[in-house]
Amino acid sequence: MRWTDIEELAALERQLFPHDAWAEPTWWSELAGRPRRDYVVEEDAEGIVGYAGLDLGGEVADVMTIAVAPRAQGRGLGARLLAELVDRAEREGAEFLMLEVRDDNLAARALYERAGFELLTTRRRYYQPGGIDAHIMRRRLKGATA
Ligand SMILES: CC(C)(COP(=O)(O)OP(=O)(O)OC[C@H]1O[C@@H](n2cnc3c(N)ncnc32)[C@H](O)[C@@H]1OP(=O)(O)O)[C@@H](O)C(=O)NCCC(=O)NCCS
Repeated sequence: MRWTDIEELAALERQLFPHDAWAEPTWWSELAGRPRRDYVVEEDAEGIVGYAGLDLGGEVADVMTIAVAPRAQGRGLGARLLAELVDRAEREGAEFLMLEVRDDNLAARALYERAGFELLTTRRRYYQPGGIDAHIMRRRLKGATA
């Protein structure tokens, strides 16, 4: 991810996350958070088709975001981006990868379950407005000892 991606990322966010899109200032601060924050962007001839990012905080890494543009969904890109995050977290020595997902996001939940993430806990009515539950999921990585 480069600073020149930010305008396009913010536009995709408005499409993909209507409830809580990250605006440009959030992207600037995420970019400034490198190397602890680590983002990957995939492009085709028309522009950005997918992006995903990590917080690499030590033994537990967190998925900050993952998204695929509507025109490219359903072709395996989300799964590839997630696999890339797993690789990067493992290379940095993390033992677990965590993420948070809305109860009503069935596509994302299926993606995570297929990639080996397990439900750790549920925060009831976490997302407002709407009172949607948040599921916290976790996947053990290669370096995990316990
Ligand atoms: C979730 C998202 C990243 C999936 O990306 P994608 O490229 O379409 O997903 P893939 O084609 O790699 O699919 C991988 C797996 O995810 C699941 N999946 C993807 N889309 C799905 C859908 N619409 N319904 C059910 N399961 C779905 C399936 O298990 C699929 O595996 P399979 O095709 O072998 O059955 C994409 O839908 C997206 O960007 N959504 C909007 C943003 C978002 O919600 N991000 C996650 C926030 S927690």
